[in-house]
Order: sequence, then C-alpha cells, then structure tokens
Amino acid sequence: MYSETVMDHFANPRNVGEIDHPDGVGEVGNPVCGDIMKIFLQIENDRIVDAKFKTFGCGAAIASSSMATELIKGKTLEEAWAVSNKAVAEALEGLPPIKMHCSVLAEEGIHKAINDYREKHGLEPWVETGHHHGEEPASEPNTQVPGSDTKKSEMNRGPIKGYETRSVSYQE
Ligand code: FES
Repeated sequence: MYSETVMDHFANPRNVGEIDHPDGVGEVGNPVCGDIMKIFLQIENDRIVDAKFKTFGCGAAIASSSMATELIKGKTLEEAWAVSNKAVAEALEGLPPIKMHCSVLAEEGIHKAINDYREKHGLEPWVETGHHHGEEPASEPNTQVPGSDTKKSEMNRGPIKGYETRSVSYQE
C-alpha cells in the first residue's frame, strides 16, 4: 500500500521536534480524522534554515511532515510556499488516493508557519490558492500570492490567526 519512501519517513522521521524561539509556527488540524500537525520554522534572510515538526496523526501525515520539512529546508519563503501537497506526495513516491489529504496538512502547516512569520513582521499574509491534489481550481483571481506585494482587498486576506479549524474539501 505504501511506498518504501513513505515507510522510511514513517519509521525514521526527519526533523521531529520543536525549534526554540521559532520565527514561524503553523498548527493545523484535519477536522475529519482529528489529526494535528505543527510546523516550526527558523528563518534567516527570508530563507528557511531549519524546520521541525510535531505530528499527532496517521503514518502518512508523519511521513508527509518529515518529507515536507526536508523539502523546505534551505528554500526561500516563496519557494517553500510553492511546495504543494502534491509535491510532497510525489517526493514520497506516491500516497494512496485515500491518504492524499494527509499531505494537505503539511502544505497547510508550512503556509501557516510562513504567514505567522509574515504577520509577526507586519507583512500581509499570503493567500491560499487551493491545494493541488484534485480538480480544485489552482488559483483564484485577485489574491495576493508570493512574488506580489501589491495590496489587494481585505476580502483576500490570508489564513486567520488561531487554531486551524477550517475544513478542506478533499478529493479522495
Ligand atoms: S488520516 Fe488524518 S492526516 Fe492522515
């Protein structure tokens, strides 16, 4: 059912733990299964120099957080924002369709941690443009995305501070 890479990252997860005094933290949850993921970022000069995670969740969520933190280390914030759940799943050599939603937690956790950093620095949070695991639209018009610091309408402000309770419509 799972690839060797998934099993490896589940059995030997990379980057488990917390970062002392993180520059950005993102905690997200899946209201359907109840799993929770917390991503910690250390950021220097707009670049992620360290990333760690704590995941209370299924094996696919643990493997996804392990791989996702590996993928974003060394990347700029813009590059890390662009790491989709699909990219995480591909790096894991695939996830079963019913488990693709677990990788969404990793994408959301990274986004939330980046926006936590941006908000702490008085910057407009970037806006989610949809996950890339199904037939959902890849983007919406008039949203502020990385690479554009043009201020858009208040309607398009990004994820709200606080515990992530927003439900996501999964394509399974
Ligand atoms: S079943 Fe909840 S994240 Fe995988």
